[in-house]
Amino acid sequence: MKRILKWIGIVSGGLIGLILIAAVTLYFIGTAKINKNFEVQVAEVIVPTDQAAIERGEHFVEAIAFCQKCHTQNLGGEVADDDPLFGVNAPRNLTSGRGGIGETFSDIDYVRAIRHGIGQDGKSLLFMPTEIYSKISDADLGAIIAYLKSLPPVNNELPDTSLGILARILAGVDSSVLSANLIDHDAPRPAEPVPGVTRDYGEYLAFSCSRCHGDNLAGGTVGGFEPDAPKAPNITPGGAPGNWTQAQFVSTLRGGVTPSGKVLDREFMPWLYFTRMTDDELNAIWLYLESLPAREFEG
Ligand code: HEC
Ligand code: HEC
Repeated sequence: MKRILKWIGIVSGGLIGLILIAAVTLYFIGTAKINKNFEVQVAEVIVPTDQAAIERGEHFVEAIAFCQKCHTQNLGGEVADDDPLFGVNAPRNLTSGRGGIGETFSDIDYVRAIRHGIGQDGKSLLFMPTEIYSKISDADLGAIIAYLKSLPPVNNELPDTSLGILARILAGVDSSVLSANLIDHDAPRPAEPVPGVTRDYGEYLAFSCSRCHGDNLAGGTVGGFEPDAPKAPNITPGGAPGNWTQAQFVSTLRGGVTPSGKVLDREFMPWLYFTRMTDDELNAIWLYLESLPAREFEG
C-alpha cells in the first residue's frame, strides 16, 4: 500500500512538474511574440482634407468597420477589461484630446496601425481586428484617417493594453490576439473597388463580416469571444439566409431579428452599426452572399 502511495506521489509530482515547465516555456514563447519587432515597409496613403472624404470616413468607421464597438461612441476609448491574469484591454483614445493618439500620430502611424496592426514602437497591436482592416482600400483608409483627425478632442487617458500571465501562456500557443501576425504585410494592394449594387462591391464590404463568420463565411467559433458566446452562423446559401429573400436579409441587418424571429445578440453580432449602412451597401453584400457556394457550417 505504502509503495503504491509513494508511486502515486512520484507520478503526480512529475506531472505537476511537467505542466509547470510547459507553462513557463509557453509564457516565454508568448512574451517573445509580444516583443517581436515588425520591420514592415508601410506605403503612404493620401489623406484628403475635403468634407466629402471626411464624411465618407465617418460612414466607414461607424457603419462598416464598427470601430465604435470597441473605441466607444465618441472614439475616446475605454478600459474594456482589466484582469490580473488576462491583462488590460483598453481600446485607445483615437481623438486629439489628452491621452489621444492625435497628439503624436503622423499619417503613416495611422496606416501602420490600421492596415498592418503595428504600433509606433514596431510591435503588434493586441485585440484589434486589423486582419480585416488590412483589406480596406487606399481611398477608404485615407478617408478614415481624415475623419479620425477631424474628431472633436476627448480627454481620456487610458492604461496601455497588455497581456497578463495567463494570456501570455495562451499567446504561446495561439497568436490570434496579436493582429500583426495574421497579416501578409507584403500583399499587393487590391484594386480600388467601384461602389455600386454589385456582387464585387459586396465582396469588398464583406471584409467586415469575415471577422466573425470566417473567411469563407460558413461560420464557426469567434476568436476572442468568451467560450459561452454564440457561434457565428453560416451566412452562405448553405445556412439560414439561403432561404431568405433580399428584403428579409436587409431587414435582419437593420432590425437584428431574423425572418424566423430569432433576436440577434448585439453584443456579439454588431448589427446596430450595420443598421447605418445604405440600402445599396446591404444589397451589394446580399448579392455577394447569394453568389457563394452553399457551404456547410464548420462549427
Ligand atoms: C475588437 C475591438 C476593436 C475594434 C473593432 C477596433 N479597435 Fe482599434 N484598438 C483596439 C485595441 C484593444 C487597441 C489597443 C491595442 C494596443 O495598444 O495594443 C486599439 C488601438 C487602435 C489604434 C492605436 C494604435 C497604436 O499604435 O497605439 C488605432 C489607430 C485604432 N485602434 C484604430 C481603429 C479603427 C480606425 C478601427 C475601425 C476601422 C478600430 N480601431 C477598430 C481595439 C479595437
Ligand atoms: C463581431 C462578430 C460579427 C461580425 C463582425 C458580424 N457578425 Fe453576423 N453574427 C455574429 C454572431 C455571433 C451571430 C449569432 C448571434 C446570435 O446568435 O445571437 C451572427 C448572426 C448573423 C446573422 C443571422 C444568421 C442566422 O442564421 O440567423 C446574419 C444574417 C449575419 N450575422 C450577417 C452578418 C453580416 C452580413 C455581417 C457583415 C456585414 C456580419 N454578420 C458581421 C457575429 C458577427
